[in-house]
Amino acid sequence: MRAIVLEKFGGLDSLVYRDVPEPEPELGHAVIEVKGFGKSCPGGEFPVGAKVAALMGGLGRTINGSYAEYTRAPVSNVASIDADLPWAELAAIPETFATAWTCLFRNLDLAKGQVLVIRGATSSFGQAALKLAVNAGARVIATTRSRERFALLEKLGAARCEIERRDLSKHLPEAKQVDAVLDLVGNSVVLDTLAMLRRGGRSCLAGWLGGLDPIPDFNPLLQMPSGVYLTFFGSFVFGTPGFPLSDVPLREIAADAAAGRLDVKPARVFRFDEIREAHRVMEANEAVGKMVVVRD
Ligand SMILES: NC(=O)c1ccc[n+]([C@@H]2O[C@H](COP(=O)([O-])OP(=O)(O)OC[C@H]3O[C@@H](n4cnc5c(N)ncnc54)[C@H](OP(=O)(O)O)[C@@H]3O)[C@@H](O)[C@H]2O)c1
Repeated sequence: MRAIVLEKFGGLDSLVYRDVPEPEPELGHAVIEVKGFGKSCPGGEFPVGAKVAALMGGLGRTINGSYAEYTRAPVSNVASIDADLPWAELAAIPETFATAWTCLFRNLDLAKGQVLVIRGATSSFGQAALKLAVNAGARVIATTRSRERFALLEKLGAARCEIERRDLSKHLPEAKQVDAVLDLVGNSVVLDTLAMLRRGGRSCLAGWLGGLDPIPDFNPLLQMPSGVYLTFFGSFVFGTPGFPLSDVPLREIAADAAAGRLDVKPARVFRFDEIREAHRVMEANEAVGKMVVVRD
């Protein structure tokens, strides 16, 4: 089969197409035709030809991922999805929407009518969360560093937009009244995020758009507000004990998309043979939303 391989550290020219052996069936795993039909699953968890979505479980990290015609994923990280959607839209759902849903409805326990701040809302993750939260009846305040992107976020249902800044809590009229924050900017604003929550309010730290530097001189006694919750979610736990994929309503999300109740359309779609251009766009921050590669 054809696969896209990162042959060495470096720039876009390190991404090359190679012929590699197809993954063999293995117990506890499903062999999947990427953006096609499930091929084989010796344990019988999925019938041959089932339409499935796979996420995490080491894909693309500790095991080969979806940059190929076929992949093999642990069955704990595979879910069947039968919605009638184009492959490009189906491919946009698993990682982004499963993670956004879990952050909103597990970590943040978001409820109708609550005020939610999404920091880093123009990111692909942020946009998915914004759509899910608006559909759930939350009032969303969305942040971006650029005023020109307010219109995009308002179109997706944001009640208001704010310019992302390190001291946002000092400029937010709703400070100390916010029910929940989905913080995708991360370590550089963790404490500022906590400062905008009401008593009992929750923050979910799930992105690091502002960088991975640790919080300098973190001293909870001096810096943390009382009575607020700081939680964390990393999608790498999907499929592990305590975080079964069945917890996430992926089928419902896909059904909502197919019925027109939820827009999962990626911002940019690339062909399999356009991988270098896809990575260039990603690294240049040009996509403003989810990017998907489909096989013809
Ligand atoms: N916890 C998890 O399981 C999980 C899963 C997936 C992704 N993530 C994380 O979530 C974040 C978003 O991922 P993504 O793939 O959706 O990103 P993405 O689509 O590539 O996000 C790009 C957007 O991030 C914003 N941004 C870039 N640098 C920023 C900065 N210094 N401060 C604030 N905003 C900045 C920009 O928005 P503006 O220019 O409009 O400000 C840009 O449009 C990443 O940190 C990623 O690692 C976490």
